[in-house]
Amino acid sequence: MPGRYDDIMSLSVRKGFIWPTADIYGGFGGFYDYGHLGAGLKRKWEDAWLRHFVKSEDNYYLVDTTTILPYRSLKASGHVDHFTDVMAKCSNCGESFRGDQLLEDATGASAEGMSPDDIDAKLEELRLKCPECEGEFEATELFNMMFPLAVGPAGTDDAFLRPETAQGVYLNFKREFEALRRRIPMGLAIMGRAFRNEISPRQGTYRMREFIQAELQIFFDPEDEGFPSSMSLSDFDGLGVRVAFEEDRENVQALSCQELMDKGLPWFYVAHMAKVQSFYTDLLGYPPEKFRFAELGEDERAFYNKIHFDIQIDMGSLGGFKEVAGIHYRTDHDLSGHEKESHEKMSVSSGGRRFIPHVLELSFGVDRNVWSLLDTFYKKNERSILKLPPPLAPIEAGVFPLLSKDGLPELAREVYTRLRKEFDCFYDASGSIGKRYARMDEIGTPYCITIDHDSLKDNTVTVRERDTTDQTREGIDALPDVLRKLLRTF
Ligand code: GAP
Repeated sequence: MPGRYDDIMSLSVRKGFIWPTADIYGGFGGFYDYGHLGAGLKRKWEDAWLRHFVKSEDNYYLVDTTTILPYRSLKASGHVDHFTDVMAKCSNCGESFRGDQLLEDATGASAEGMSPDDIDAKLEELRLKCPECEGEFEATELFNMMFPLAVGPAGTDDAFLRPETAQGVYLNFKREFEALRRRIPMGLAIMGRAFRNEISPRQGTYRMREFIQAELQIFFDPEDEGFPSSMSLSDFDGLGVRVAFEEDRENVQALSCQELMDKGLPWFYVAHMAKVQSFYTDLLGYPPEKFRFAELGEDERAFYNKIHFDIQIDMGSLGGFKEVAGIHYRTDHDLSGHEKESHEKMSVSSGGRRFIPHVLELSFGVDRNVWSLLDTFYKKNERSILKLPPPLAPIEAGVFPLLSKDGLPELAREVYTRLRKEFDCFYDASGSIGKRYARMDEIGTPYCITIDHDSLKDNTVTVRERDTTDQTREGIDALPDVLRKLLRTF
């Protein structure tokens, strides 16, 4: 649906959400910058994520680690050998493509995880040609997506830009385990940049070469059947977890947690599926039918995962359900790998046993989630409205004088200055009041405060709500309380 993509990109660029990096030089494939509204929206999404997944749990914390990692650490994690995509290169124009994407674009079916030989055979069978010049493809090959670096003046220290934030946590696991007084389960989150030299970045912020992840690594005892003890089956009575299994991707079933466990998924995994779904549909207000988990099969899963469901949102701008996050059961893959390479013991003593903790990873792409908010909540009818959940709105309140005379701007400025200390506000005195409301609606501002002649007499103002356009009259002194109640809802 290119029309929808163009609408959202146009809104983003015109208003200050997202645009291509270095666009005065024609852009830079796979790199995007956030403008003032995008940065605000992203920060609020990150805060909501942090509260829902990290601050809500005992012994879960945010950490922050470097974006450059030494070669050995990524050799140990398996990224040096396995973090690859299949590259198809045109023998005529030299353009490179992801082999699985060429097949997916041609057939509509997932080709993730196919080997170079299988992709070659399928390209041949379908007689696919270069989309740029109709040339023939060379034999496909594996391409490692990490950005290599030569660190130091002599360039002798091999390193990479991190391809995922997760490794920073694993490298610090032992230190945090000691600092946090040796308790399992322990959750460590990182929110930060990751880098992948994507063969063919595309669809705006969907496939970027530098992007932001919000990842939580939960270390737990694989024999603790009660984990996570902070949640119980009864918490999810009546919840239908929306799942599409590998064998029938088009069929989304709403299953209870018990039904998912009957299908062989462990409790700790199912509980986190429920927690993730509730983040999207209850907290952020995504329509349930736009949300689903999609199971990945053995060939499709990342090399470190034993159980892997993608979290997908149906995005009109990107042509259907697209991955925005994943729940990954990584077992002891990473800690064992680092133990072997570094000779540092990663095992811990807990519950009378010694073991290497297993890891459940909740991995979210922040940029994809921000795009999905724009896609899900932007309505373009007679009125263009971005119906963002109010706590995520980058501008929380517009403050306007009805007219630019009679002392109204002075009082409006006073109100704006008072509110700005606590809320994200925008002062606007230009154009008709209708135009000012429309500009705020389009960037998602949930409330507009207008100062009129009555305000001068009785110290009250109108507060207009974005979606209904309903207006109420409130006292100026009561505004902070009124806004707090309306905006601080999660
Ligand atoms: N630590 C696990 C991991 O990195 P992943 O499925 O490769 O798993 C996790 O990535 C999330 O990061 C994805 O669900 C997606 O939202 C985001 N992501 C991955 N590659 C991306 C890219 N090239 N551009 C934007 N976001 C990306």
